[in-house]
Amino acid sequence: MSVVRPQPPEDPIHYDPAATLAAGTVSPAALAALAPRLDAARTESLADVDRWRSGGTQAGEVLDAAFVDLPDRLLAAYKTDRTTSELFAILQTARRIREAVDRVIVLGIGGSYMGTRALFEALCHPFHNELPRGERGGRPRLSFEGFNVDNDSAQGLMDLVAPAGTPRSDDLLDRWAMLVVSKSGGTLETAAATRLFLTTLARAVGGDRKRLAESVVPITGKTGKLAALAQAIGCPDVFDIPDGVGGRFSVFTAVGLLPAAIVGIDVVQLLEGAAAMNRRFREAPVADNPVLQFVGVGHLAEQAGATIRVLSSWSNRLEAVGLWYDQLLSESLGKDGKGATPLTTVTTRDLHSRGQQHQDGRRDKLITNVIVGEPRRDRLALPPLAGVAANEDQLDDLVGKTWPEMLTAATAGTNEAYAEAKRPTADILLPRIDEHTVGQLLQMLMLATVVEGRLVGTNPYGQPGVEAYKHFMMRRLRA
Ligand code: PA5
Repeated sequence: MSVVRPQPPEDPIHYDPAATLAAGTVSPAALAALAPRLDAARTESLADVDRWRSGGTQAGEVLDAAFVDLPDRLLAAYKTDRTTSELFAILQTARRIREAVDRVIVLGIGGSYMGTRALFEALCHPFHNELPRGERGGRPRLSFEGFNVDNDSAQGLMDLVAPAGTPRSDDLLDRWAMLVVSKSGGTLETAAATRLFLTTLARAVGGDRKRLAESVVPITGKTGKLAALAQAIGCPDVFDIPDGVGGRFSVFTAVGLLPAAIVGIDVVQLLEGAAAMNRRFREAPVADNPVLQFVGVGHLAEQAGATIRVLSSWSNRLEAVGLWYDQLLSESLGKDGKGATPLTTVTTRDLHSRGQQHQDGRRDKLITNVIVGEPRRDRLALPPLAGVAANEDQLDDLVGKTWPEMLTAATAGTNEAYAEAKRPTADILLPRIDEHTVGQLLQMLMLATVVEGRLVGTNPYGQPGVEAYKHFMMRRLRA
């Protein structure tokens, strides 16, 4: 048997806006004329990284640019001094948790959980949590809470780990752990859920303080209430969300990497994909640069009235990537009365709910398809009905057509219909959904968001608008 592991593919993803140009929403000349400003926005976004590192932040300015070269730094440290690297520590803890429990509950909200959810849904078995442990390769189930204050949904998860408040058995298959993720350490939704599940976990481990501490992994800023709680519990593993990396840009810190590694995602390949996108972003000329072309087309389309950006995923697996991107774009650029409105759809599903409006409704949308070249699994083919019925459904002429063939026909047919109605569409093409392509895609979308911010004069970092609801909520609770 060969001991050489096959090299996973590292094909690039592509961005193709040809149909938006053909629809006339954005002219090729306008896009070419924007090139110097896109180049300048790239330079400024990269200079932000140096400015942040050298402490050149202006008074009162939020500058969370350290996410940009984070994948490169994590990989470099892992390759040069493996055992002291952050990635090694993440992988070690992932292995310890994986072997100790059969369910991991991630508590977090916004940027502290949406990236993890995107990775989980894109890269794990679509029914991971429903599979028996053996078929999950010994990897725990992953559940999410603390992203809302929904009484019944929290109770629903409690039913799984402690029905009627009573912990299940101490068998491996009933054991669970929790990852608590909060950069500030003080977000009420996450903090309330932490109390709830911490007290339940304390009962589950029979009051054993050491086991409790080992079953809770906080991921947080260096200081704050969660860091203090972690110290009080005595958690042996606590991961830092580094300074200079904001919540919605934190998917390639322990926030996303630890849960991803626990459920068996190849986090090294994920980071390799992100680093590959960084290279293209830095080096490719504007006209061949997927990040800059994506920004340019979105910006010009918005000026032409397409203020709604639909990210249309042609795979169920990428819906949570779309929701993560909705949050990224909204919190980063929805400021000072400006910013396009993002909207995630899954096609063909949503052609039966939103298709009418996208084809015939207000002309305020740019549709960016996310199209996947190859499925991960063998191709399903339409079977004959022989022995069950005759040709009542009149599909005999399609027998043998595969699911990917039907999806390709749907994609091409939808784009054709939009083109006929001069509806602008563009395509992001993923050769397949794997760690490398998802790493590229997430990094591309994060880079595009900050470049667009610099292009339009909006600071993409920080989310001052979210403070208002927190203030009024806490005032009411403490009245
Ligand atoms: O992008 C962001 O910074 C936000 O979405 C935060 O992630 C979210 O508000 C949660 O904050 P925290 O991690 O401090 O609990």
